[in-house]
Amino acid sequence: MFEFKVDDQISLRLLEPRHADALFALTNANREHLRQWLPWLDTVASITDTSNFIETTRKQFAANDGFVAGIWYQGELAGVVGHNSIDWLNRIGWLGYWLEAGLQGRGIMTKSCRALVTHAFAELQLNRVDIRCAAGNSRSRAIPERLGFRQEGVIRQAEWLYERFVDHVVYGMLASEWQSR
Ligand SMILES: CC(C)(COP(=O)(O)OP(=O)(O)OC[C@H]1O[C@@H](n2cnc3c(N)ncnc32)[C@H](O)[C@@H]1OP(=O)(O)O)[C@@H](O)C(=O)NCCC(=O)NCCS
Repeated sequence: MFEFKVDDQISLRLLEPRHADALFALTNANREHLRQWLPWLDTVASITDTSNFIETTRKQFAANDGFVAGIWYQGELAGVVGHNSIDWLNRIGWLGYWLEAGLQGRGIMTKSCRALVTHAFAELQLNRVDIRCAAGNSRSRAIPERLGFRQEGVIRQAEWLYERFVDHVVYGMLASEWQSR
């Protein structure tokens, strides 16, 4: 299947039905880590739920509404990154991501996002990539900041995270800014 090599250790591949076991195991092993900042953990209770998610991502890709890729690090599934959706009218991609807790701190996500941002502007001809992070999610916020995104504002109480609302910090990168870095 299609594979995009980010570097010698990191590859991105579109998720396929055969990845359901590995993705469910990774999700299960990282529940507490991911639950801090992602709202969907309780909806993934079995491999069937993960299979359904993968099926949804394949329909999303087929409908040209963005895509979700698995991140393989040293040959093992390590996380997920992708455009949660694409607004073609306004040429905006909305990036989202998560990574295995034990593999944080190596630049895997920053490198993967850099590859997807380049792809978004060079291949998809988008004009803007948007990343929204919970205000308290400093590891996530560090990714657009490291990549040179501009912090554009705060959306108050933008997301219900289990038992509380969190504000979102909006980061944006424009095609013209990415090219002139
Ligand atoms: C958000 C998340 C993906 C960030 O993971 P991360 O490992 O901090 O990010 P990266 O993989 O880009 O690694 C960056 C770290 O590697 C270091 N690093 C090492 N080599 C690097 C390189 N070549 N390039 C960039 N960073 C490098 C950086 O200094 C940084 O370390 P630090 O945190 O000690 O400063 C992860 O914390 C996560 O999955 N959280 C839960 C889910 C979530 O919050 N998703 C986002 C919702 S908006």
